[in-house]
Amino acid sequence: MEENVNLCEAQLSAWLQVLFQQAFGEALAGFSPRVQPTQDAKFGDFQCNDAMPLAKTLHLPPRQIAQRVLDGVSLPPMLAKVEIAGPGFINLTVNPLWLAEQLEKLAAASAFGIPQCGAGKSVVIDYSSPNAAKQMHIGHIRSIVIGNAIDRLHRALGYRVIADNHLGDWGTQFGILIKGYRECLTEEQRQNLTVADLETAYVASSTRGKTDEAWKDSCRQELVKLQQGDPEDRALWQRFIEISIEEFTRMYKRLDVQFDLWRGESFYNDRLAGVVKELQDKGLAEESEGAQIVRFEEEGLPVAIVRKSDGGFNYATSDIATVESRVEEFNPDRIIYVTDERQQLHFKQFFTICRKLGYTTKLVHVWFGLMSYQGKAISTREGNLIKLDDLLAEAVKRSLEIIRAQTPEGMTEEEQLALAEDIGIGAIKYTDLSHDPTTAIDFSWDKALALDGNSGPYLQYAHARICSLLDKSGESPEAGSLKLDTAIEKSLALALMQFPGVVQKAADNFKPSILADYLFGLSQTYSSFYQRSPVLKAEAETRASRLRLCSLVAEVLSSGLRLLGIHAPRRI
Ligand code: ARG
Repeated sequence: MEENVNLCEAQLSAWLQVLFQQAFGEALAGFSPRVQPTQDAKFGDFQCNDAMPLAKTLHLPPRQIAQRVLDGVSLPPMLAKVEIAGPGFINLTVNPLWLAEQLEKLAAASAFGIPQCGAGKSVVIDYSSPNAAKQMHIGHIRSIVIGNAIDRLHRALGYRVIADNHLGDWGTQFGILIKGYRECLTEEQRQNLTVADLETAYVASSTRGKTDEAWKDSCRQELVKLQQGDPEDRALWQRFIEISIEEFTRMYKRLDVQFDLWRGESFYNDRLAGVVKELQDKGLAEESEGAQIVRFEEEGLPVAIVRKSDGGFNYATSDIATVESRVEEFNPDRIIYVTDERQQLHFKQFFTICRKLGYTTKLVHVWFGLMSYQGKAISTREGNLIKLDDLLAEAVKRSLEIIRAQTPEGMTEEEQLALAEDIGIGAIKYTDLSHDPTTAIDFSWDKALALDGNSGPYLQYAHARICSLLDKSGESPEAGSLKLDTAIEKSLALALMQFPGVVQKAADNFKPSILADYLFGLSQTYSSFYQRSPVLKAEAETRASRLRLCSLVAEVLSSGLRLLGIHAPRRI
């Protein structure tokens, strides 16, 4: 399996391994040289830089090591040239015939050779996970989009993925909300309850509670009633959750996001007391002013409260219970959480606790920087709290304007709308995914919808243009056999060969941006190829080979975009 990931690198490395072995024998037992693509074609296609770090072991200058390795070797068919450069780099230029063969192999493999390194393993991805009874706004988009791309990447690698929407559906806010529902809404609002009404009720009730002690007390009582299973409060709570789920589902549908599970925090209620008991038994939790706390002296973190002095449990307690349940049920290889940067401490604390409890599952917090809008932080006070619904509608509206301005000949109104949906939603997703998750994003419509920069529409457009070229050719591109006569054709083939390894790297580093960068680079290489190499007007064999290259680029662009959750329409 492993060798398949970077087909060329693996074979070159195996060849060099034998040479290193022959030159130095026992001294290099078990050593496997690393081969990587060069930054610049003037150094060949691949290079091995291992002579440098080996100088110490072998007590020889690196250049001499490289010379001994290559001394008297004859070039294998896969290489056109091998050279020693600088202090001891081994630069490898591959034979275009061999490269074409490798690319054919990849194209024939299922899913373009994406390694199935996750086969037999499962991974839980906890993403989106919004708090119930609140409307989604622009700040909610990143967890959804990044989480969903990580989800798709893992599925592509063969993992069994359990995408779990861990709703914030429990806690003090529900006491405030029940009181607000009863006293701050009109009869009509209560009849046709929406998430917006719930938000109004919550804000009114919590504001009142700040100055009115009796009100606050009454909110607390509602909470206790709810926790004790009072049927009326329970039914209200249930209704709030159902309405929230309905509203969120509408958003996910538009974003093409599906979850396998919707287990809110409340699902783990019965486990919380047991978690605290276990922490006490294992000497991890101790009493402090009536509360149960965990200290992290060695780790230098602030204390975490796992049970409050009033007996209530905390976010950390709930997340430990969640790990316990997920490990029992799914025995996952990884549990991945996607939230904003402000929760880093929480995750550090409860991951540490889980490790001390003996959990060995890899726990990963993928955190992302906050999104601002036109240079301003997104906040209700600034008046720029854009609802997610409105953001998506605006993206689609703007895309439709662009499509209409570009004379969409022969496209029905319906097709234009569908296209606008793909482009608008794709633009928003790509803006997010093209950045390393940890960078803050300042959202700008111009950048998101640009047709010529590193944007979603640019990639969709590049893909659609290739599809139209293929359609125009009237030939089946599968018929052509590859020949890589020019430097740019070779570069394009080398770029295509990187796809499976990039998918794995993006998943293993939890950075969809690695894939986004790759796709942008590929489309740029394609565009230089297209500028320099006539396709339809080339003579027969070259034309067939170039059409085939084009179709492979289209295939990789569309699969890559799909892994980012972005649709790649054949026609724009
Ligand atoms: N509900 C939380 C929020 O809106 C995110 C939950 C993330 N998942 C978790 N298991 N803690 O901020």
